[in-house]
Amino acid sequence: MPTDHPDPEGPSPALGQALEADHARLDEIWDEGMRLWGTDPARATALFREFTSGLLRHIQVEEGMVFPFYEEHAGSREHHLLELLREEHVQIRDALERFMGHVEAGDKELEEPSTVLRNVLWAHNTREEGQLYPWFGPEVSEGEAAELRRTISTMLSSSDGPG
Ligand SMILES: [Fe+2]
Ligand SMILES: [Fe+2]
Repeated sequence: MPTDHPDPEGPSPALGQALEADHARLDEIWDEGMRLWGTDPARATALFREFTSGLLRHIQVEEGMVFPFYEEHAGSREHHLLELLREEHVQIRDALERFMGHVEAGDKELEEPSTVLRNVLWAHNTREEGQLYPWFGPEVSEGEAAELRRTISTMLSSSDGPG
């Protein structure tokens, strides 16, 4: 059966890898923002805004496409994992909103709100990378989820543009 590969030169990166790479990309933006907060708050604020829009888009992609696909294909016994991941998304959104409140107010001290956000986010990302993303291996990405992978890769890599 012919398949419509986006890259005929070789296998496309698996969807799980694309999502994991997006975690790493957001981590780098976060680290740079934290590093610059004390010396260049304007640049750091811009980075934190970029981090926020990227993280919210990542969560939106997971809740809108990745979780439903997994739910549909992986069987009901896995649903408790998604329940947990969705609950963590709620906590992440809350912690992010609180953190950004401190950033936008120009608070010198970000340690407490940043620690709250980092703890919930990093635990969540580790859980996804350990238990959810491996399921989206090459066989899923190259088969029935090829279209899903293309859509998600495009969404994750699209830039926000100015503003
Ligand atoms: Fe997530
Ligand atoms: Fe994620």
